Formats: sequence, C-alpha cells, structure tokens
Amino acid sequence: MGNILLIEDERNVRYALKRVLQEAGFSVIDVEDPKDVSDLKDFNLLILDLKLKTTSGIDFLKDLRERGINLPVIVITAYANPENIISASRYGVIDILKKPFSKEELLELVNRLMKEETPALKVEVDPQRVIVGESERMMEVFKKVGLAAATDMNVLLTGETGVGKDLLARIIHENSARKDHPFVAINCSAIPENLLEAELFGYRKGAFTGALRDTKGKIEAAEGGTLFLDEIGDMPYSLQSKILRFLETRSFYRLGDDRERKANVRIIAATNRDLSRMIGEGKFREDLYYRLSQIVIEVPPLRERREDIPKLIEFFINKANEEFGTEVRGVTEGALKEAMDYEWKGNVRELKNVVYKAVLETKSGYIESLNLSGPGKEDLEGLITRCVEITPEEDLKSLVLRVERKVLEHLMTKYRGNKSRVAQILGMSRNTLKTKLKKYGVWQ
Ligand SMILES: Nc1ncnc2c1ncn2[C@@H]1O[C@H](COP(=O)(O)OP(=O)(O)OP(=O)(O)O)[C@@H](O)[C@H]1O
Ligand SMILES: [Mg+2]
Repeated sequence: MGNILLIEDERNVRYALKRVLQEAGFSVIDVEDPKDVSDLKDFNLLILDLKLKTTSGIDFLKDLRERGINLPVIVITAYANPENIISASRYGVIDILKKPFSKEELLELVNRLMKEETPALKVEVDPQRVIVGESERMMEVFKKVGLAAATDMNVLLTGETGVGKDLLARIIHENSARKDHPFVAINCSAIPENLLEAELFGYRKGAFTGALRDTKGKIEAAEGGTLFLDEIGDMPYSLQSKILRFLETRSFYRLGDDRERKANVRIIAATNRDLSRMIGEGKFREDLYYRLSQIVIEVPPLRERREDIPKLIEFFINKANEEFGTEVRGVTEGALKEAMDYEWKGNVRELKNVVYKAVLETKSGYIESLNLSGPGKEDLEGLITRCVEITPEEDLKSLVLRVERKVLEHLMTKYRGNKSRVAQILGMSRNTLKTKLKKYGVWQ
C-alpha cells in the first residue's frame, strides 16, 4: 500500500510535493510527462496536474478510464474552472485541489483516499493454478483427493452439476502413480446404450453392422492409467452388470470376440444423480455402487461454500483475460454482492460462464454487474448457462448437439416424459422428437 504516482510538469512543485508525501511515509514515483509511465498497475493513487506541457491532464484521464484503469485520482490545478471540474468528474475524479494548497490539505486528502477500500477486487491469480477453493468444505474435499491420489482404489465423485467433479477426477489422476499413463474419460449419458458398450469394451470386426475392423475400447485405451466413467448414474442397467463383472475380474471381452483380455486401469466414476435413491428405485445396481465407492468424495454445491466465490471470480477473470486478450481487473463491490447472494444452481460452471460473459461485455476495467437472473427465473438461457460449458476451441456443430441434448433432457424431465407436450413446446412433431431422443439415447 501507499504507492503514489505524481504527474506534474513544473519541477519545483513536483519536488516539493514529493518531499511532503515521502515524509508522510508514502512511496512516490514522480514524472514530468504521462508518456513516461508505462505501467500503472502498482499504484494506489494518482496525483495529476491538469495543465501539462505536452498533453492535457484530462486527455490522460480519459485515456486511463478507457483502458479500464480505475485507481483514485487527485487532480491539482490552478485552473479550477467549471469546465475543468466537469471534465475531470466525467472521468470519475471527485477530488480536486486548487493551487495553491497547503501541505495539510494535501495530506488529509491523500490519507483519506488511501484509507478508503480499494474500489474493487484486484485480479491476482497464479496462472499455474488449476483449482480454487479455500473454504473448510473444499479443504475436506482436497484432503480426500490427496488420499485418493495416493491409493489405487476406485473413487466415486458425487455432487450437483458444475461443482468440479471432472476437474477433480483429472487432478486425482495427475497426482497418482498412474500419471504418466492415459486418463481416458467416457460420458455414460452422452452415448446411446448399444454404442456405449462398444466404446467401452471395443469390438471385433463384423460384431455388428458397421464394425469394419477390430477396434479397441476405452478400457484398453486407458491401459496403465485411469478410466473416468462420467455420469455413471446414466449408465443403462444392462450395461451396469457388464461393468461390474469387469470391476470384479479386471478382465473383459471385446464385443463379438471370445478372447478374454486383462486390463490394468483405475476407475474413477462421477455422478450428479442420487445413487442411493436410484438403488431404492431399482435403477442402479447396489453391488456396482459398492464396488465403485471405495472412496466417496462429495463435492459441495457452491451455495454451501460462498467464501470461495471471490477467489473463483478472480480466477475466471484472469483466465478470460488470457483467452480473450481483455484487461478486466476485477468486479465492483456491487457485483460481488450480487454473486454472494445468488443461488448458483449450475455451480462453478455457471459462475465461469457468467464471468466470461461479463468480461466480454465490460467496457471499463471493472465488472459492475454480473447480470444474474432473479431467483426462480427459469428459462432456456439459464439452463444453458448452468449446464453447458462453452469452450473456445469447440466447433459449433458439437456445441449445438450438446445444447440440444441438455434442452431435451431438461424438458423431458420437467414434463415427466410427456412427449406430446415437449414436442409442442419445441415446435416439432412428436416423431421428430422421438428420433432426437433416440439419437441422444435419452428418455426413450
Ligand atoms: N474449484 C474450482 N476451481 C476452478 N475451476 C473450477 C472449480 N470447480 C469447477 N471448475 C471449473 O468449472 C467447470 C465445471 O466443472 P466440472 O466440469 O468439473 O463440473 P462437473 O461436476 O463435472 O459437472 P457435471 O456434473 O455437469 O459434469 C469446469 O470448467 C471446471 O474447470
Ligand atoms: Mg462432469
């Protein structure tokens, strides 16, 4: 704290001011010309003379604000006329010292501005960092992740959508003895049942129509490493027995092949479904659950660890700046409060999407609002922000497919499988809807 940038072209005035400020314990960098300043990020306060030789202080201010730099400014001027005051205030300067002023007047103002809370959260995040969380709840999660990484046991990650199950699965792998071997993920809900089996176990040429050559499955692709069974709660019941057998024997057959193969893979599974309830309803095999849950890690929803929100916002602003080349420096108190009060049904993914969007829309250096929809507002846009992650490298076609799938899933659940109703909402025929549901392997 306490770094002041002083821009004043009159040398005597500059030296006198610098001495006063230094004696009061501040560190001061003084320049004659704004062009001599390359980087403003280390300063807490700017003292600016309005009438400079080479440029006007107002132009400099304007430029500063356009670059999104919001540090407090004291303008000093002998020309405190309405025009100057209006212009300076337009660029957010409320403290103007009219020359000549006394040492006491200056120090009083400087002390007041320095004591004021910084206007916003500054972005300071280690670029190497991959995961954020300092709450008690996440500390517990991280301890279990460490334990899981140190063993070779099967791990089950549970928690709402967007809490970070995927990310944690990768972190477990990367910290485990298998880290130099592959991490292979398979999303059990995204692939229709018959294809899922082939994807997992592989197949022999001719095993089914379209099986043109012998093909390895994900289990073989993960040899020596980790197989991540994502959304295991969506795995069809019939396939659950096959996976169980594989877990028990560590051996399997490619489809249509009678040669038994051995596999050395570690299993991590994840779900946002309530598996105990599914077991009660006869939709998930209890014996498979016990196999998978040697270590269970419950990842808490964001609303139960709100302390993590500010750091997550910083983290995503920083990432967005890197990806988009923007220079957003933080969020205002108001935007932070909005985030602290919000429900975050889509958890960290929703927060990430909201921050990325705000970064792209922000004109000044600080995000002033995250434009969070009010409680209870439920629309397709909200659904998409919560459940679908937008990655810059993904092609449009695959994004559209993912969005369509989520929308179908959501509406079919909401209207309890009433295909006529859902088809009507989407403005498509019942047959088209059925074809789509079949394509995604959901709600058939
Ligand atoms: N604690 C965290 N720190 C930093 N980034 C996080 C954190 N938790 C989640 N993320 C990021 O948020 C996004 C969503 O996380 P992830 O995909 O792991 O969620 P998930 O629990 O697997 O959700 P789903 O159940 O919908 O598959 C990812 O981009 C992930 O990197
Ligand atoms: Mg996931």
